[in-house]
Amino acid sequence: MNTCETFPADFCWGAATAAYQIEGAWNSDGRGESIWDRFSHTPGKVANGDTGDIACDHYHRWPEDVALMAQLGLHAYRFSISWPRIFPSGGGQPNHRGLDFYRRLIDALCEHKIAPVATLYHWDLPQALQERGGWANRDTAYRFAEYADLLFQHFGAQVTHWHTLNEPAIVSYIGHLHGSKAPGTRRFWQLGHVIHHLLLAHGLAVQAYRSHRSHRSSRLSPGIGIVLNLRIGHPDSADPRDKQALDRIDTLWNRMFLDPLFRGYYPEEALRFLRQRGVCVRPSPGDLEIIAAPIDLLGLNVYTRSIVAAARDPLLGVRFIPPRAPKTAMGWEIYPPALYETLQLAAAYTDLPLYIAENGAAFNDTPTATGAIDDHDRIAFLQAYLAEAQRAIDDGIRLKGYFLWSLLDNFEWEEGYQRRFGIVHVDFPSGTRTLKRSAHWYRDLIARNGVLR
Ligand code: FCB
Repeated sequence: MNTCETFPADFCWGAATAAYQIEGAWNSDGRGESIWDRFSHTPGKVANGDTGDIACDHYHRWPEDVALMAQLGLHAYRFSISWPRIFPSGGGQPNHRGLDFYRRLIDALCEHKIAPVATLYHWDLPQALQERGGWANRDTAYRFAEYADLLFQHFGAQVTHWHTLNEPAIVSYIGHLHGSKAPGTRRFWQLGHVIHHLLLAHGLAVQAYRSHRSHRSSRLSPGIGIVLNLRIGHPDSADPRDKQALDRIDTLWNRMFLDPLFRGYYPEEALRFLRQRGVCVRPSPGDLEIIAAPIDLLGLNVYTRSIVAAARDPLLGVRFIPPRAPKTAMGWEIYPPALYETLQLAAAYTDLPLYIAENGAAFNDTPTATGAIDDHDRIAFLQAYLAEAQRAIDDGIRLKGYFLWSLLDNFEWEEGYQRRFGIVHVDFPSGTRTLKRSAHWYRDLIARNGVLR
């Protein structure tokens, strides 16, 4: 017989997407170029030469997508706003056609009683700002604050939660050091500036938010936060050098963001490590107070964990060991306790309400002869991770909601369209949407507010 573990009555069930991954319409209605347009249009950067030019064509098909969300019974929808749709060249006069698009989307969500949760920066910097140095240039943080301020003015009455940035660690280390995501630079010496300006942008946006008034909704009280992807790691062996490598990753990837946001300083070990490699982090007076200004909630993205070993790698001196356990189509280990461990790490820093802002899995979904997609592997993945969410709540951690990544199959960055994370299948040539079995499962789970076993 099925048993059903119930979540708290006010628990928020949602799904998440991001602008560049679903919208398409990359040059419609005055939208400017973003660093992801430039990156995906550069040969060799994205698998199969895929781009976000059309993606899920959500820009035109949003009414159908909102109807799907309503059909699933979502309480909230996390999406991101495309900065170059609003400021095509990064600043100056806003593009009203871009604002109108989000106005229509947000109105429709509210009509269906789906709380809009908006991320201001999910990686699509206006290319014009990149040309002026991007995140390595302090001015970008001020342009971001202006952009954020405009959105608070326009949508502050309806958007319940705002997230300033999605995963600043990925933007910093993968976008600017590893280079496999836009802008794809590999300038180690710029890393400190990039990290600091991202955090400053966050803080300035929070300041701007506080100068506006927003409304109250029943399930979610309004607020602003940031989305981090903390890296849960374990050492490859008992060798103290592996443990040291793990500590370095924890400091550079997790504490480099958690410490300034919640304690108002950068971790000394990280600063020393970076300094020895010629990387400086130079806050101006007052910056750290801006960065550490109180927020209302914290979003966390959880997928996997890392097994870390010491290595001769000249940059960070670490090596990530490929998983030996079952993995998803991304090659990521299926490790459900990562969800609990992430929440635990966050809870050690703050007693703010916590949200899983993304969790989900890519699998090679194969439609049956009738076109159905029986993605039992995805359902098993979600069930196992949600059991960890339940465990955290039972242990008193303030987990208030869960956003499944992703509503739709979409453009998975440098992996293109070959990785499908959706609970709704998208046939990319035609744009046709089909609910996978996991979508039906999620709808039932939301209806019962619990996990079916
Ligand atoms: C996260 C990103 C999201 C998506 C998932 C799979 O790091 O925030 O856009 O690509 O990974």
